[in-house]
Amino acid sequence: MPENSLGPVSAPNPRLYSPRNLKRYRRLVVGLSHRFAWKVSNTEIHALYARYVAPTHLEVGPADGHFLVNAPDLTGPGGEPVSPSLRQVHLLDLNPAPLEVCARLLRERAQVITHEHDVLATPWPLADASVGSVAMFHVLHCVPGASIRHKRTAFSEAARVLSETGVFIGSTLLGADDPHTRNNWLARRLQTAYNRPDRNIFHNTEDRLTDLRAMLDLHFTDVQLTVMGSAAVWVARGPSR
Ligand SMILES: C[S@@+](CC[C@H](N)C(=O)[O-])C[C@H]1O[C@@H](n2cnc3c(N)ncnc32)[C@H](O)[C@@H]1O
Repeated sequence: MPENSLGPVSAPNPRLYSPRNLKRYRRLVVGLSHRFAWKVSNTEIHALYARYVAPTHLEVGPADGHFLVNAPDLTGPGGEPVSPSLRQVHLLDLNPAPLEVCARLLRERAQVITHEHDVLATPWPLADASVGSVAMFHVLHCVPGASIRHKRTAFSEAARVLSETGVFIGSTLLGADDPHTRNNWLARRLQTAYNRPDRNIFHNTEDRLTDLRAMLDLHFTDVQLTVMGSAAVWVARGPSR
């Protein structure tokens, strides 16, 4: 894995996140892995999108964009419908295919701006306080770092680009040995296979709930953090800059 003075640098994996695999992503990952391995509730994730996605939104690591594309119509601060011309969605991803696929799916619903960029590389190509919501679901466990503390840029940059009243939502799979999570036999088998150093799929062996809590608390004043199966899910407000 390449490194620079700031720490690890992610390596793209366009073979994994290929247009062909993205067509199967919803069925295999969202449909099967979430249900049978990670034990995460897609209903709860859909509910977070329905509740928190703002008219100006940043989606980090969309893959096939499943949750965002299926979010109810984006709404204004008072709950009123927003004209498509007033919706702006930024997509940030290290791999080109998720950006292309997701942008195509969203183009009727919003002005879409894509950023081919590493979540660990600072700064993200967005202005300070420029978005009302940031979503980062199941990205952190894919990025290199000896622990979640080494993935700090993801939190500091989310806080930087989020407006004062904005919300940061997300989830990540923690290492299988985290004592706060529940990993069944299948989850453990998959975590081991995906963390093999030659595969560049997962990098979460040492990711722990306590470090995730510390990173969120460092960059946000109001944090709700819960465990859901193999994952931790957060809703964070009050960006500290
Ligand atoms: C497992 S998928 C998650 C997809 C989606 N957010 C979901 O919850 O179903 C991981 C996504 O993160 C992207 N990704 C992986 N490493 C990244 C990095 N270092 N920086 C930005 N995006 C990255 C992948 O290309 C992919 O779109």
